[in-house]
Amino acid sequence: MENVFIMDHPLIQHKISLIRNKETGTNEFRRLIEEIAILMGFEALRDLPLEDVEVETPIETCMTPMLAGKKLAVVPVLRAGLGMVNGITTLVPSAKIGHIGLYRDPETHEPHEYYCKLPDPIEERLIVVVDPMLATGGSAVAAVDFIKKHGGRNIKCMFIIAAPEGLKRLHETHPDVQIYVGHLDRELNANAYICPGLGDAGDRIFGTK
Ligand code: PRP
Ligand code: URA
Repeated sequence: MENVFIMDHPLIQHKISLIRNKETGTNEFRRLIEEIAILMGFEALRDLPLEDVEVETPIETCMTPMLAGKKLAVVPVLRAGLGMVNGITTLVPSAKIGHIGLYRDPETHEPHEYYCKLPDPIEERLIVVVDPMLATGGSAVAAVDFIKKHGGRNIKCMFIIAAPEGLKRLHETHPDVQIYVGHLDRELNANAYICPGLGDAGDRIFGTK
């Protein structure tokens, strides 16, 4: 599938196996989510544009590449996406941060919006939407709909674990969006949870339930 990238880096796979383990506690889970976000971000951001700028070294003046154009916006889907933000800002400290607040109705599994704010201007920025889980795809489609409605055009989405159903839905609805997935899991269960998955990502990051 064009614009879909499944990441096979051994460090990403190893860390995903650790977060699947139900014995992994909140501290370690949170740390691992951040580390995976760094590793995925490193790959997903490899096409950031560069421009040569003049820099004076202690030896001489040279032209050397630096990030070009309008900078990055990282947009976590609340709550669980918050766990990936520090990973991206570790790579690009100047990134602006937007928020898209969505929760899934436990019965219908439909996303409900409760808070959305994007950095201004959004039009020229590369926008990286982060969420550990892509299940039915309802939340991701709603997040990208919202960003596009506000003028966002250059959008990448990063998910640590995805279900085939959600990946298909997001890709078919927004084929222009680049989708990065840490691991493509088997399927959704009757409650629209990813199998084998890791359970409720938000609860595991924040120690709730
Ligand atoms: C989870 C997850 C995604 C969404 C995925 O969030 O972080 O945002 O579910 O499911 P979908 O693809 O079927 O929409 P949740 O709604 O549980 O909210 P939370 O992060 O606040 O726990
Ligand atoms: N949200 C989660 O946190 N986990 C799932 O498996 C599905 C949706």
